Amino acid sequence: MTCSQVAILCTVVCCALAFKAAVYEHDVIFPPQRSRVLSRDSALQVMEKNLDVYKDQCAQAVKQKAQIIVFPEYGLYGLGWTRQTLVPYLEFIPDPHTVSWIPCDDPARYNNTEVQYQLSCMAKNSSIYLVVNFGARQPCSATVPNCPSDGYFQFSTNLVYDSQGKFVARYFKQNLNSDEIYFNRPAITNYTVFTTPFGRFATFSSYDIMFKDPAITLIKSMNITNIVYPVAWKNELPLLAAIEIHSAFSEGMHVNLMAANLHVLSKGYQGSGIYWPSGTSNNEIYYNNMKPGSGGKLLVQELSALDTVVETKTTRKAKKQSTRLKTGTGDAQTRGNEFKAMMNHDLFTFVPLRTGYGHYKVCQNTLCCETAYEGMFQNALYALGAFDGIHTYNGKYPLQACTFVPCVNGSISSCGQPSIKSIGYMDKMSFFGNFSSTRYVLPEVLVTLDNSTLDIVARTWLYQESIIIDVGVPGSPVSISMYAIGGP
Ligand SMILES: *[C@@H]1O[C@H](CO)[C@@H](O)[C@H](O)[C@H]1NC(C)=O
Ligand SMILES: *[C@@H]1O[C@H](CO)[C@@H](O)[C@H](O)[C@H]1NC(C)=O
Ligand SMILES: *[C@@H]1O[C@H](CO)[C@@H](O)[C@H](O)[C@H]1NC(C)=O
Ligand SMILES: *[C@@H]1O[C@H](CO)[C@@H](O)[C@H](O)[C@H]1NC(C)=O
Ligand SMILES: *[C@@H]1O[C@H](CO)[C@@H](O)[C@H](O)[C@H]1NC(C)=O
Ligand SMILES: *[C@@H]1O[C@H](CO)[C@@H](O)[C@H](O)[C@H]1NC(C)=O
Ligand SMILES: *[C@@H]1O[C@H](CO)[C@@H](O)[C@H](O)[C@H]1NC(C)=O
Repeated sequence: MTCSQVAILCTVVCCALAFKAAVYEHDVIFPPQRSRVLSRDSALQVMEKNLDVYKDQCAQAVKQKAQIIVFPEYGLYGLGWTRQTLVPYLEFIPDPHTVSWIPCDDPARYNNTEVQYQLSCMAKNSSIYLVVNFGARQPCSATVPNCPSDGYFQFSTNLVYDSQGKFVARYFKQNLNSDEIYFNRPAITNYTVFTTPFGRFATFSSYDIMFKDPAITLIKSMNITNIVYPVAWKNELPLLAAIEIHSAFSEGMHVNLMAANLHVLSKGYQGSGIYWPSGTSNNEIYYNNMKPGSGGKLLVQELSALDTVVETKTTRKAKKQSTRLKTGTGDAQTRGNEFKAMMNHDLFTFVPLRTGYGHYKVCQNTLCCETAYEGMFQNALYALGAFDGIHTYNGKYPLQACTFVPCVNGSISSCGQPSIKSIGYMDKMSFFGNFSSTRYVLPEVLVTLDNSTLDIVARTWLYQESIIIDVGVPGSPVSISMYAIGGP
């Protein structure tokens, strides 16, 4: 990114504080056996293979002058564990706030920390900030609340090493998903922040981005604008494909997001990127390759330091009230033909859209979504949907969402069903929701060009408290949506 490309954000300050980041989407090498408890040596052999890939990628990233690199969640040993079978992979991970430790220089300080030694040497040898996800096994005494009967907590952990190999930050994942029964949820949420010569960063993983703690608090109360984000994210169409929701998070929360995902196509994990908000439409570089046999990928991108956007409730409200639908005349049609359907595990209220132009509105609870649009549906059916409630799948969080999605096979019951097929086009649209003033809106425009691959669209739409499309989006819409997270 050059200064001229982001003229709106660039000031003299911005370019002095630019830095280069790398993320690596990793085709993790799985252990041959996950159903029985291996020896520590066998577990280490598997992790060494993945560490070898990490080492190569660090070297590649440094060649391209990257100063920080992010690897995915589960990148060292893969997924699909029980509490017992994961044990040989885990290590005790000390608190970097209380110990100053360069494992590469002092490997004997703790027993059984071979992986931490390798990671530290990798950062030191390449002289790069290194962000990885790994597993911690922390002893606890029976008097500690919720200490498991085996005497250890197991935490999904993000670790950060500085360019001298010093261990500088540790984050225990807070918002586990329902598969992660082999990890414990820490009793206290840690807001994990670290400072580098090129800016302040925070780290968390996967579903954490949907929750107030730690994600929204770090960004909105602790002024964090750079997030290093190891993930194991399964595409969940139509609203939660990895590149879709991660790019929307960057734009809506006004942060640089460095998201490294696994590349495990057989289980639906893929889609990594470096995303930054532009103030006009989303910008990003990303890797989204669903072709069988495709492998991992390194992405390197220069990013500018962002100013913290200090928003008070009153300024947000004022902006909302000034929003007007840009196209369409007269009042929205609401007709009596609403129906309810599940989408991404939430029960939306929809209205069917049968013609390629119109002005419609749909409401659920306190949220109304309204769109005026002109496009070409080619006899396909689309639907406008609203959701205002609590999302309960894979963790509970308050959600408001407005969405425009295809009905895959032309029947009402197929509206919003996961699919990469879409045949219509959108030339002009303005899309607005009266979200409650405490919400943060994540804007998404996801399309398909050929019914088999997904793309996020940049530069042909604006997000200014509503999604505005003036010149048409390339491809056919799979989702044009606003996903609003944060408190009620
Ligand atoms: C490492 O393990 C050995 C053998 O069990 C023990 O004697 C030693 O005290 C341990 N060292 C540390 C630093 O815990
Ligand atoms: C670090 O670099 C040195 C010198 O190139 C090399 O000998 C050593 O094996 C490297 N260590 C690791 C853990 O990569
Ligand atoms: C959380 O961070 C504090 C320092 O900010 C540290 O003392 C504490 O041990 C950390 N807790 C966990 C669970 O990491
Ligand atoms: C965040 O920025 C605001 C405005 O500059 C400042 O008042 C506040 O103290 C900062 N908070 C933190 C935790 O840095
Ligand atoms: C269309 O898809 C829906 C939902 O997947 C299914 O219930 C319905 O039977 C399908 N209809 C046709 C005509 O294929
Ligand atoms: C949104 O608009 C509807 C209909 O006008 C209204 O009932 C509702 O209170 C509004 N919601 C908010 C949060 O202003
Ligand atoms: C996508 O699929 C639809 C329905 O099967 C078809 O009409 C359309 O031509 C396809 N588009 C492309 C670009 O292949």
